Amino acid sequence: MKGIIAAALLLIATPAIAASQVEEGRYQAVLGDCAGCHGKDLSGGIALETPFGRLVTPNITPDRQTGIGDYSPVDFRAAMKTGIARGKPLYPAMPYTAYARMPDRDVDALFAYLKTVRPVRHAVKVNQLRFPYSWRFLMRLWNLVFFHPGTPDPANHTAAWIRGEYLVNGPGHCGTCHTPKNMFGADIRPELGGALLQGWFAPDLSGDPRTGLRSWQAADVAGYLKTGRNGHSIASGPMAEAIEQSTSRMRDGDLAAIAAYLKSLPAPAGSGPRILPDVERMKRGASLYRVNCSACHGLDAKGEGPLVPPLTGNAVVRQDNADTLVRLVLAGSQGAGTRWAPTRPAMPSLAWRLNDQQVADVLSYVRGNWGNQAAPVAADTVGGIRAALRGGK
Ligand code: HEC
Ligand code: HEC
Ligand code: HEC
Repeated sequence: MKGIIAAALLLIATPAIAASQVEEGRYQAVLGDCAGCHGKDLSGGIALETPFGRLVTPNITPDRQTGIGDYSPVDFRAAMKTGIARGKPLYPAMPYTAYARMPDRDVDALFAYLKTVRPVRHAVKVNQLRFPYSWRFLMRLWNLVFFHPGTPDPANHTAAWIRGEYLVNGPGHCGTCHTPKNMFGADIRPELGGALLQGWFAPDLSGDPRTGLRSWQAADVAGYLKTGRNGHSIASGPMAEAIEQSTSRMRDGDLAAIAAYLKSLPAPAGSGPRILPDVERMKRGASLYRVNCSACHGLDAKGEGPLVPPLTGNAVVRQDNADTLVRLVLAGSQGAGTRWAPTRPAMPSLAWRLNDQQVADVLSYVRGNWGNQAAPVAADTVGGIRAALRGGK
């Protein structure tokens, strides 16, 4: 009798368990930002320009011919955690090196969720890399040399830190953009130390007072990730996308955990000496700033409420690498729009108004003024980015 009751209870409970597993899986897809690379409907086709050529993301809807409808849960775990998709080694542009940290329970939930999305018939030619990178089997060697998943020792850390460390280095794969890479595309130190990607610079997230997040409170970090802006900065480019698709949809507790972890990162040893700008350049830059920038950003560069970011204490301004900055001034940009802060403030393109030397001068001024201490920008750097933008990159 007891057995029958238990069996009946199980029958009633199973759909509920399945439904909550799908819900949990949906959240795992948010944490991992699958849509960021595989597209909003997950049917792939988004081109990723890598230093090795182009990879186009595959279809991961449950379509049997062109998607992952034929995957078993075991196949899916192997793809997510070892980078081997049904016997085929994946390129690490798919962040399995980070997803390897995810517990099987969460990967299984994610798979259960993926089974429920609308199957889309969409065949994609993934591998458009240059020779010899197009030789997929080389990735087995890559894994042998560079892929060593591990978990830090949780001793002496708070629950929030442990969760935050896991989210940043696991499903959130923040290092995919923020950690510098070697010539084989593998992570190098300093972790989260800032890196260049597709013409944008993903800033240093360490506690470095000049280039990092030292001047941000934990609440500033969480607010930026949730709404796309805070008193220091407004996200644009690839970060605006990551915020819209992923971090703005994360639970508040998870954002607080990420902030706690990032704020615990120390400044790297021997970080940044003060760089003195040259006086003549500063004068030229100051007058260019007055004419071209101050109407919006203010003469004191304090910005304008939630719509125009300040240029003081702004880490985008202070990074060693000025590519993002040059790109912003030449091409303009549109800030993130989230449920929490829907207007998308725009910075106009000034490429038509300023020549390379003028852009270099005004940015050198901005980078060397109001307590900012970043190196001047060369006119050649501006010329290179202007050419790349013209080439449609
Ligand atoms: C940073 C971009 C990026 C993100 C984020 C990303 N992927 Fe991928 N994914 C790729 C690329 C690129 C490939 C193709 C790699 C290859 O074929 O070598 C891929 C391949 C895959 C494959 C293998 C498909 C096959 O059979 O060839 C699966 C499964 C997959 N991704 C699932 C996911 C899931 C689930 C998420 C979210 C948790 C996710 N991906 C997030 C870029 C990404
Ligand atoms: C697709 C690449 C990409 C991913 C993934 C990504 N970021 Fe970013 N991030 C950027 C770029 C580019 C910027 C600079 C944005 C700008 O210039 O407005 C940035 C800016 C930031 C900033 C502001 C830094 C500053 O000093 O202004 C924070 C904080 C941040 N990211 C945290 C994260 C966290 C946490 C994650 C993982 C959950 C993450 N990012 C994932 C590309 C990325
Ligand atoms: C018409 C108003 C306007 C003018 C003129 C303008 N900006 Fe902006 N700027 C904005 C807005 C709005 C944003 C936020 C949009 C975004 O981040 O995508 C912004 C963003 C920026 C950022 C990125 C800050 C961050 O936190 O991401 C920098 C740097 C910047 N502007 C520098 C300049 C410089 C230098 C000039 C002059 C050469 C200038 N701006 C002229 C409105 C303006």
